[in-house]
This record gives sequence, C-alpha cells and structure tokens, in this order.
Amino acid sequence: MAEITDHVRLRTMTSADLERVLAVEQACQLTPWSMANFRSCLSSGYRCKVATHEGEITGFMVLSAVLDEAHLLNIAVAPAWQRRGIARWMLEQAIARAVDEDMSVMYLEVRAGNRGARKLYKQLGFEICGRRPGYYRAEEGHEDAVLMTLML
Ligand SMILES: CC(C)(COP(=O)(O)OP(=O)(O)OC[C@H]1O[C@@H](n2cnc3c(N)ncnc32)[C@H](O)[C@@H]1OP(=O)(O)O)[C@@H](O)C(=O)NCCC(=O)NCCS
Repeated sequence: MAEITDHVRLRTMTSADLERVLAVEQACQLTPWSMANFRSCLSSGYRCKVATHEGEITGFMVLSAVLDEAHLLNIAVAPAWQRRGIARWMLEQAIARAVDEDMSVMYLEVRAGNRGARKLYKQLGFEICGRRPGYYRAEEGHEDAVLMTLML
C-alpha cells in the first residue's frame, strides 16, 4: 500500500519558507520558537529541512552538527499531517545522513510529558541518558526535559 511519505519530499529550508514554518510551529508547540530563532538557525548553517507534499509544508526539522555529534533542536509536523509517519521518516533520513558522515551520536531534549514524541524517539532507538529539572516553561510553572541519545 502507498504510504503518505511516498509523496512527501524533504528539502533544505530557505528564508522564503519561514512564514509557513512558523505557522506549523505555532500550531503545535507549547512554547513556539520565534521567527528570529529560525532565522538564526538558517544563518548559523544548521541543518534546516522542510517536508513538503505538493508544495505544502507538512513539517520541518532543525539539527546542528558539530564534529561527530548531531543535535536535534526542533521537529514538528502540522496537526493535519500528524500520525502519518512524517516525523519518523524525516528522522530516519537525518539519522541515515549522520551515519553516512561517520557521526557517532545524535542527541535531543524532549518535554517529560510529551508522550507522543518520546514514543517516536524510542521507536527509532533513542535511549534516555539524563533529565534537566524545570528546563521548559509549561502552561503552569515548568516541566523537566528528558535527554535522549542515539549511538550511530
Ligand atoms: C511529535 C511529532 C513531531 C510527531 O510527528 P508525526 O509525524 O505525527 O509522527 P509519526 O506519524 O511519524 O509517528 C511515529 C510514531 O510515533 C508515535 N507517536 C507520534 N505521535 C504520537 C502521539 N501524539 N501519541 C502517541 N504516539 C505518538 C507513534 O508510535 C507513531 O507511530 P504510529 O502512528 O504507527 O502509532 C508531532 O506530534 C508534533 O509536531 N508535535 C508537536 C511538536 C513536538 O512535540 N515536537 C517534538 C519536540 S521534542
């Protein structure tokens, strides 16, 4: 059976995408990044990718790569496109690229209460390696970050 990801493309994000990327971010993150955050990632040379379906931006991810370490800084899929495998597919491609480049580890932080994202990362082989108490702002107070790593 055809998967939605058969029809989704992954390409490099450009500044022309930022309005639409910000709309996705604001639609699904509790404490969304600002336009300035995305601009700074683009200008810093981070790996900023968008997933598109017939030109529509369905999701994005931002990674930094320093020496042999990749760091997933942000990933989101627009609500209408969630639970169709797009995030897993984007991350599989990021992991494959990091393996190709002989990187040794990918790491990330996730809100302790973000069960969906944590399940996704676990499926991909990420393991918990630490916790930062009160790292994220929450609707009320703060929430811990769970640190996860994937050895490549
Ligand atoms: C987390 C997020 C990126 C997942 O994107 P997605 O494209 O819907 O994820 P996928 O369809 O690839 O999901 C793969 C697997 O992850 C798990 N998963 C993903 N979202 C889930 C959810 N809301 N609840 C439970 N499990 C979930 C499931 O096991 C899923 O497989 P299944 O659908 O076959 O059961 C998306 O929900 C999102 O943008 N959330 C808001 C932003 C965010 O939390 N980003 C992560 C910050 S660290």
